[in-house]
Amino acid sequence: MRKVIIDCDPGHDDALAILLAAKHLDVLGITTVAGNQHIDKVTANALKIVEFAELTHIPVAKGCGLPLVKPPMFAPEIHGETGMDGPELPTPTTPLDPRHSVDFLIDTVMAHDEVTLIPTGPLTNVASALRREPRIAERIPLISLMGGGLTSGNSTATAEFNIYVDPEAAHVVFSSGIPIKMCGLNLTRQANATEVEIARCRALGNRTGQIVADLLVFFAGTVKEVFGVSGGSLHDPCAVAALIDPTLIEFEPMHVAVELKGEHTYGMTVCDHRHLRGIGDEIKSIGKRKGEAPNAEVGLRIDAERFFDLLIGTIGMYP
Ligand code: RIB
Ligand code: CA
Repeated sequence: MRKVIIDCDPGHDDALAILLAAKHLDVLGITTVAGNQHIDKVTANALKIVEFAELTHIPVAKGCGLPLVKPPMFAPEIHGETGMDGPELPTPTTPLDPRHSVDFLIDTVMAHDEVTLIPTGPLTNVASALRREPRIAERIPLISLMGGGLTSGNSTATAEFNIYVDPEAAHVVFSSGIPIKMCGLNLTRQANATEVEIARCRALGNRTGQIVADLLVFFAGTVKEVFGVSGGSLHDPCAVAALIDPTLIEFEPMHVAVELKGEHTYGMTVCDHRHLRGIGDEIKSIGKRKGEAPNAEVGLRIDAERFFDLLIGTIGMYP
């Protein structure tokens, strides 16, 4: 199985990404980064996840609590005060890996031939590791990340949360030369969990299915309150699904720059899709690329039905 590290900020959808990855990929570790909530809270949530899912063989390391340049920002309006509100989960007792996430990332990548990274939060840890030990870049075959978007944002009109929390870190990652699969909002909003998917999780009859259903009820509730739309888009599991079944998501190579100066576009993933006529499902033709050579593959379409079958089927594999 593909060796991976999940760098995350649990986070309702981060939790589902971990559950999906652990049954299909060789998860060498979970590294936490501040994002949806304070680093202490997202780290506690990562431990809660490995405990309820009986995944405590996977080491969890605590990472950066502050972005490289910007002041910290969290998302309690979406993920709640704990960062993973909804189900009542016991205070975790599993010990953390003693290393900081950045050191864990470097040590693990240097100790294995090829380790794929799956960042599902801000890119502070990954950027810091690349700066601290540049040699890891040639040992990481792929970064499959949730972040950015082809056309619009959620934190601002143009910037998606994971990128907007730490745009400078995202710039380091997108200019690293490491192959990137970018699962942005234009893609992940197609994987929208509604009451149908919540009912399917409940019907599994296992403890994990109930916990996931409770997570999704809370997540869909805050998304409705904040954005006025139904359902909770399962952003982070898309970055995992891309590695498990490459037929699920259609990617298109293009150049992606992270805007660091714009008054209205700071944190935007500026995707050069001038060669596309139409976007997403409406793509009519793909012409000659313009501008800089592609540095990423950007997700355009996902087979949501098969994605949910994979995800819910995997949740059914847990206790
Ligand atoms: O914009 C969505 C992303 O921000 C997801 O990763 C979610 O968990 C939050 O981190
Ligand atoms: Ca996340």
